Amino acid sequence: MNRIATVAVHAGREDLAASGVHVPPIDLSTTNPIPDVESGGAAYEALATGGLPPAEGGLVYQRLWNPTVARFESALARLEGTEQAVAFASGMAALAACLTATVAAGKPHVVAVRPLYGGTDHVLATNLLGTEVTWAAPDGIRAAIRPNTGLVIVETPANPTLDLVDLHDVVTQADGVPVVVDNTFATPVLQRPIEYGATLVLHSATKYLGGHGDVIGGVVATTPEWATKLRQVRAVTGGLMHPLAAYLLHRGLQTLPVRIAAQQDSAKRLAEWLRGHELVRRVFFPSGPLVGTQMSGPGAMIAFEVAGPEEAARTVESVRLVTHAVSLGGVDTLIQHPASLTHRPVVSTAKPGAAVLRMSVGLEHPDDVQADLDYALKDAHR
Ligand SMILES: Cc1ncc(COP(=O)(O)O)c(C=O)c1O
Repeated sequence: MNRIATVAVHAGREDLAASGVHVPPIDLSTTNPIPDVESGGAAYEALATGGLPPAEGGLVYQRLWNPTVARFESALARLEGTEQAVAFASGMAALAACLTATVAAGKPHVVAVRPLYGGTDHVLATNLLGTEVTWAAPDGIRAAIRPNTGLVIVETPANPTLDLVDLHDVVTQADGVPVVVDNTFATPVLQRPIEYGATLVLHSATKYLGGHGDVIGGVVATTPEWATKLRQVRAVTGGLMHPLAAYLLHRGLQTLPVRIAAQQDSAKRLAEWLRGHELVRRVFFPSGPLVGTQMSGPGAMIAFEVAGPEEAARTVESVRLVTHAVSLGGVDTLIQHPASLTHRPVVSTAKPGAAVLRMSVGLEHPDDVQADLDYALKDAHR
């Protein structure tokens, strides 16, 4: 099998040369001419229930299926090592489809390990989509499983504290219950959860997959059975990814391995420097036995704790090169205060510390990011 750098460049483009083009066409048709009522009806039936389109024609309507989106899906599935993938309008739409599918299957109970992205925590904690959550420690998953448990949900590295979860152990404890791994922070370049027995690998594609802060999207890499259910939910809820977003994400995948490698190198240097900084109390950056095994490297997200909430607020307000903004995974370095922003809806007992900042390390020269952070930290602690 080709190496991941090669797959990233070529996946989902196998047929292009034969059709005389070098980059994927963008199909913006909202509707497609139907050859005859019978075949059109059969295609409609297949797509509306989550199936694949017939080989010839029969695309029917963009909410059901789009070829540009399908290209991105096939490329991402190759990278994650799954048979299929299903792309959505956002990471939250992808998660909502997983939750809706398990509720529809009569298994509304979900076991989840905190910390999770604040939006994920929020949708689970409020039972907004008809699920019922049991929060478990990583070693308490087995005890939390019930007969009506439909999913186990984990993030590793977790947002925002970069906690790692042992996926092999999670899958063993889940004992057949499908495990959803949010792989947004690691990406398939550093970690392929399917190799540890996960059933669904979820991404906020908005982050590293796109990589340039200009596209919102979500995707779930999974088995054909789950993909069928997710496509059906997508068809009826209208959560399809827009083809322009799919084009940009597919293009983003081509540089994903080099971006991750370069951003991770900078993050390692910055984490090391932050560890020795007099104004930094604690640095959260993946380490330990799962780094180099489950995850080939620590990634490019860092969290760190300063003296207190006021110093944290002043630090993000003092940066000049780094941008104070939510989101992550793009070419430019972003910093934000999770307790006030991305993790605002999380209950106080599970909220990240008020003195903790989360930083997504970009592609700038690390010395320049370091100089900016040093200035901001000193300005904030004056
Ligand atoms: C780890 C993680 N999962 C899911 C999401 C939700 O993705 P989106 O914002 O694309 O809906 C985010 C967003 O920040 C995230 O960080």
